[in-house]
Amino acid sequence: MIHSTFFIKSYGCQMNIYDSEKIISILENKGLKQDDNLESADLVVFNTCNIRDKAAHKLYSDIGRLNKYNKNKTIAVVGCVAQAENVEMFNKNTSIDIILGPQSYHLLPQMIDDLSINPKQINTEFIINEKFDYLTEQKKIQGISSYVTIQEGCDKFCSFCVVPYTRGPEYSRPMKSLIDEVDSLTKNGAKEIVLLGQNVNAYNFTDNGKKINISDLIEEISKNKKVRRIRYTTSHPINMSDDLIKLHSTNDKLMPFLHLPVQSGSSEVLKKMNRKYDTDFYIKIIEKLKSVNPKIEISSDFIVGYPGETDDDFKKTLDLIEKIKFTQSYSFIYSARPGTKSALEKDQTPLYVKKERLSILQNKLREIQFEFNKSFCGTNTEVLVENQSSNSEYFFGRTSYMQAVYIKSKNINPGDVKNVYISTCNPKNLYANC
Ligand code: SAH
Ligand code: SF4
Ligand code: F3S
Repeated sequence: MIHSTFFIKSYGCQMNIYDSEKIISILENKGLKQDDNLESADLVVFNTCNIRDKAAHKLYSDIGRLNKYNKNKTIAVVGCVAQAENVEMFNKNTSIDIILGPQSYHLLPQMIDDLSINPKQINTEFIINEKFDYLTEQKKIQGISSYVTIQEGCDKFCSFCVVPYTRGPEYSRPMKSLIDEVDSLTKNGAKEIVLLGQNVNAYNFTDNGKKINISDLIEEISKNKKVRRIRYTTSHPINMSDDLIKLHSTNDKLMPFLHLPVQSGSSEVLKKMNRKYDTDFYIKIIEKLKSVNPKIEISSDFIVGYPGETDDDFKKTLDLIEKIKFTQSYSFIYSARPGTKSALEKDQTPLYVKKERLSILQNKLREIQFEFNKSFCGTNTEVLVENQSSNSEYFFGRTSYMQAVYIKSKNINPGDVKNVYISTCNPKNLYANC
């Protein structure tokens, strides 16, 4: 079969979105054109996520629906479900032609060609340094705010999590190739660089005998005059080193906003989760951050209904939320994932209790977020303008705390950093004039 067009869909985290950009470049280099229509494309690529049950299910229902329209096309499943379920996927759904794990996207063009020799293609090896050797060649224009993966994989093995199995061990990319990528992105208009990694603050690379950590890397990236803002995500509390904390007081380009997932406010639950810290340790990190820079705000991820979580454990999570006042967060009901340690534990909390806890927690988070947003009303705040909104009277931008701002203006442009007057807000957005 001749492939002239492809459609790609990304599920899951930012790293998948970043990888998908690279896959797009690889396929375009092979002469294929991106098609926004799934039904008419010759090749459909699903870049999958395995973090929770729902994400994996979504993939199978998407493939199922696709079969109904058109069976005569190539289906490639790449990413974390491909890595986790491996050859098993061919049995689950016979219309899948290619299974490719997250470390070997550079092999995709060859696998497409080889379909004529063998109609089922699979590669799920961990050869991570090769991935980056090949992928840095492709430089797709992102946006005003651009992502750069600096680190991939995880050695932490939290008992609930699939990432160490789907993304493999921690690997840090060489600094030189990262700086080159940042240069290329800023030449194409990027003003904000978001450093990505499953454990981004565990970044650790040795260059000619010199150890380079994430603080060194941020300092190096700050030298690029076109870079206005730097962020990094996702951090693990045990890798928040003193020099990284200190950098939040000395580096003006580093935003005062940090995604530092705590997962639970109960030290007992954290222990069962194998998070390697307790609540006191977490609170101390936040205190240190606030002592170097009182303006710092924190966001987090939470899991409710972890096996054995009691009402008292849950209450401790609410207490921690009240104490830290996370200004933006993601929260999920625990999902037992095949192959993880906690999937073997007895989970006796009924689903309705978990749903109730999630709703209480999300209401609390929303309230705090709304209060935080309200504190900006009637003030001027700095916004990086990212693009024109779908309503052409408005521009879309973000504050240093990642709040979404819709700005009514005729005299601003994407890429501008503007001080704007916030006139009103809701829990999700701020609205401004300038
Ligand atoms: N490396 C990051 C998180 C990566 S996964 C960290 O350690 O914080 C993103 C989020 O998905 C996690 O923070 C967690 O809140 C959630 N998550 C991971 N596995 C989950 C599971 N089995 N059930 C529910 N949520 C899960
Ligand atoms: Fe998963 Fe834990 Fe690693 Fe985060 S630190 S990716 S939650 S195993
Ligand atoms: Fe999902 Fe894999 Fe990211 S499991 S959250 S796509 S690392």
